[in-house]
Amino acid sequence: MTQNTFTWGVSTSSFQIEGAAHEDGRGDSIWDAFCREKGRIVNGDTGDVACDHYHRFKEDIALMREMGVGAYRFSVAWPRVLPNGRSAVNEAGLAFYDRLVDALLAAGIEPWLCLYHWDLPQALDDLGGWQSRDSAGWFADYAMLVGRRYGDRVKRFATFNEPCVFTLFGYGFGLGAPGLKDRVALHRAIHHVNLAHGGAVDALRAAVGGASIGAVHNRQPCLPASAEVADRDAAQRFAEYWNGAFPEPQFFGCYPAALAREIEPYQQPGDMARICRPTDWFGLNHYSPNYVRADSGNVLGFGFAGPPADVPRTPIGWPIVPDAFADTLIEIDRRYRVPIYVLENGTASNDALDANGTVSDPGRIAYVKAYVEAMQRAIAAGADVRGYFVWSLLDNFEWGSGYSQRFGLVYVDYPTQRRIPKASARWYADLIATHRKSASQQIT
Ligand code: FCB
Repeated sequence: MTQNTFTWGVSTSSFQIEGAAHEDGRGDSIWDAFCREKGRIVNGDTGDVACDHYHRFKEDIALMREMGVGAYRFSVAWPRVLPNGRSAVNEAGLAFYDRLVDALLAAGIEPWLCLYHWDLPQALDDLGGWQSRDSAGWFADYAMLVGRRYGDRVKRFATFNEPCVFTLFGYGFGLGAPGLKDRVALHRAIHHVNLAHGGAVDALRAAVGGASIGAVHNRQPCLPASAEVADRDAAQRFAEYWNGAFPEPQFFGCYPAALAREIEPYQQPGDMARICRPTDWFGLNHYSPNYVRADSGNVLGFGFAGPPADVPRTPIGWPIVPDAFADTLIEIDRRYRVPIYVLENGTASNDALDANGTVSDPGRIAYVKAYVEAMQRAIAAGADVRGYFVWSLLDNFEWGSGYSQRFGLVYVDYPTQRRIPKASARWYADLIATHRKSASQQIT
């Protein structure tokens, strides 16, 4: 591992932590609207307050500083800076991210800015959202605004977080905002998000000198739930959507074969060249393999299955397979030939404050340790991995699961908003310090 250039970080996203949903002119996002729909989110939770990071960001940066992280990935809430998604700019919203970026830089933490972590302005969804081809232009304009505003201080930009997840869940499976189960909507959204990515890359290159740009993809092996032919076919098709729908057109200018036929009606001449723009790195979010089965009740004919009984799982049932992480890193390295940054990896656990006011989370420490070791095996095998970011800095709003799942290195006591670093936060700080020490020894 090239210790001296390796980046250790933590990740969050705007809707999951900021709160202040109706403050300083922020507009509604599709997730605000989705949370208001009965039965969508566990316990009827919302992002209205979340971790109140909007007001507590200095405290949160101090926590990162204590941990010794070198970088922080956050996202800008599009409806905070453009309440209607386009035209009228909200200066108060822009000023919040000025304060955040300046405080990060003062703490010696590199800001990694993601333009889109799923909180589309509701006003744009009212105009068709990602189903509308116009969305590519709306997004490029937003990228230009953000690039021009922060590009003097921020150089690391991600266009989208997990486009495969928010399109599949939001338009195919009905599990995320805007909650549709509609093949046509899904295929339109996939293509328009790809066009938006390409337009944003161009906008950021134009706006920011020395920008380092990528997209963040969730990539996992997609395994059939049984040896039945139908399940094996299902897993293959699922993999096209999950692993192929975005990286393939973005890096090579073409969709995987079966998907290409579905997308064709929404494609126009020149589109693939607009999508396939040079980027600087591959952002990887990785948790665990997907198990897939044929499912005639699903609009795509396939869906998730539970993992086999003998696979170890996290408390929320996600399989723990560090070798799959190593294999994924090696596969990405060989296929896409750009540096890889792991921008999310981590686990939820049933954390609670004990009588001494501390939080012990041995399961998270064991998980992160095993995955970091797997990453080191991939690096030893030649994969060019340049950074690793834990999901997440704080416990936060975990989409459809609301606040019932805790992914943080830092515990959030929601009634008081008190932050309590868990045992894993201290463990991660030690890991970073050890690597830093061995890096400085390498240099001298
Ligand atoms: C990823 C999302 C992130 C978080 C983690 C647990 O799919 O990007 O927002 O929810 O899962």
